[in-house]
Amino acid sequence: MTLTYTDLREWLARVEEIGELKQVRGAPLDPDVGQIAEMLHHTDESPAVLLDEFAGYPKGYRILLNANGNRRRLALTLGLPLDIGKMELMNAWEKRIADLKPLPVQYVERGPILENVHEGDAVNVLKFPTPKWHEQDGGRYIGTGSPNITRDPDTGWVNLGVYRSMIHDAKRIGSYISPGKHGRIHRDKYFARGEPCPVALVAGGDLLLFIAASVEIENDLSEYEWAGAMRGRPYEVIREKYTGLPIPADAEIVLAGFIHPTERLPEGPFGEWTGYYASSQRPEPFVEVKAIYHRNDPILLGVPPNKPPYEPHRFRAYLRSALLKRTLEQAGVPDVTGVWCHEVGGCRLLTAVSIKQRYPGHAKQALLIATGARATGYLGRVTVVVDEDIDVTDLSDVTWAILTRSDPATQMDIIHRAWSGPLDPIIRPGQKGLNSRLLIDACRPWEWKDEFPPAIGPSVEVKRATREKWGHLLK
Ligand SMILES: Cc1cc2nc3c(=O)[nH]c(=O)nc-3n(C[C@H](O)[C@H](O)[C@H](O)COP(=O)(O)O)c2cc1C
Repeated sequence: MTLTYTDLREWLARVEEIGELKQVRGAPLDPDVGQIAEMLHHTDESPAVLLDEFAGYPKGYRILLNANGNRRRLALTLGLPLDIGKMELMNAWEKRIADLKPLPVQYVERGPILENVHEGDAVNVLKFPTPKWHEQDGGRYIGTGSPNITRDPDTGWVNLGVYRSMIHDAKRIGSYISPGKHGRIHRDKYFARGEPCPVALVAGGDLLLFIAASVEIENDLSEYEWAGAMRGRPYEVIREKYTGLPIPADAEIVLAGFIHPTERLPEGPFGEWTGYYASSQRPEPFVEVKAIYHRNDPILLGVPPNKPPYEPHRFRAYLRSALLKRTLEQAGVPDVTGVWCHEVGGCRLLTAVSIKQRYPGHAKQALLIATGARATGYLGRVTVVVDEDIDVTDLSDVTWAILTRSDPATQMDIIHRAWSGPLDPIIRPGQKGLNSRLLIDACRPWEWKDEFPPAIGPSVEVKRATREKWGHLLK
């Protein structure tokens, strides 16, 4: 696994070399940029797009869309061969996270992020072209592809989590973090002491760090140390002047400040990953920005949510599935042959696991752990466990197993009062927080699995051989 880039600019150069970068000049910020993002997100194999020259903003202030929108560019970001197949990517990733040895950060004095520093009266977050991503959004979201850096006040653990941020005015940005997320836990600890929470928001920067910050890696492990290990060298950071937080030396844009413990401002609505404006507008904490840092000709990373599947689901399906597979193995569930967090459910609402059944209750054990794991616990809906002959990544195959191997009266359970939050569209306003889950055992029933009707169709090996011999008929 070798990364062929160091920062976002080198990544863009590599993407240009493979012919997957399109450049646009002079597009209207509204409504076109949000609409272009939607078009790219909902088109297979669409390119990455870098937009420049927005009316009213300096030339060179750019927005990048659809960075990891296909498997080739995801492979580039992760340092894997560009032509890697679907299951190979998943397996390579799983092995990589299993072997990971976290690398502590390296503090440096200088870096491109310090090319432009604005403090005090000069703080103006409105200087960056920031689209209104969806027609009914309540504001302009500068933070969409944006790791938020926070520190646990008790332990010193530095976390990075991607949480959305809406511009209120030149010096204040709204911050929405779902209950249970690491940044929220850090923030709540400061608030419980009556103290403001220091935060630094990376509004554009390295895509490996963005990916690290957007998946549920372990508690107490810093995404910096994780991304450093992936890169094979310590992550270079600068101690930010006001918050003391480590900020990436080669980021594009960083906003640093404090989240006020008691004051609130209306946040949202915002088009969300479930495909709805479900959390509407609520009073939420906001960041008082003390300093802005940016490179010359800065690049904002735009990852606005769209109806699933959209860009992050193209990479999260692999990464979250690999994390869950590892959790199942670590929890002692044997013979897990496949895991897939389905894109259509935003990689959260529908999780499929396949096992080779070894003992009575094996399927239920896998169901319970897959439903409550760190990777999948938040805002899930349906978890299904199937036998090893089912391709968990194939929605038709999984649905066929549910429809033919699962008796609703005896193989489906509903769990109540699970981890949810304001974004859950099926919970009524005013009652959000908890939800229920459907657990489906779609394995052949253990008690009579050997008498279960044999399935029609060739084995995987015979299918492969047929395609080798007769595949020319399909061309
Ligand atoms: C583009 C994008 C936007 C996201 N926006 C939010 C958000 O606004 N609030 C939130 O709690 N999680 C959001 N998430 C999900 C979190 O980033 C994700 O759960 C991550 O694991 C959080 O980090 P943590 O595990 O360290 O808390 C977003 C993820 C992506 C990819």
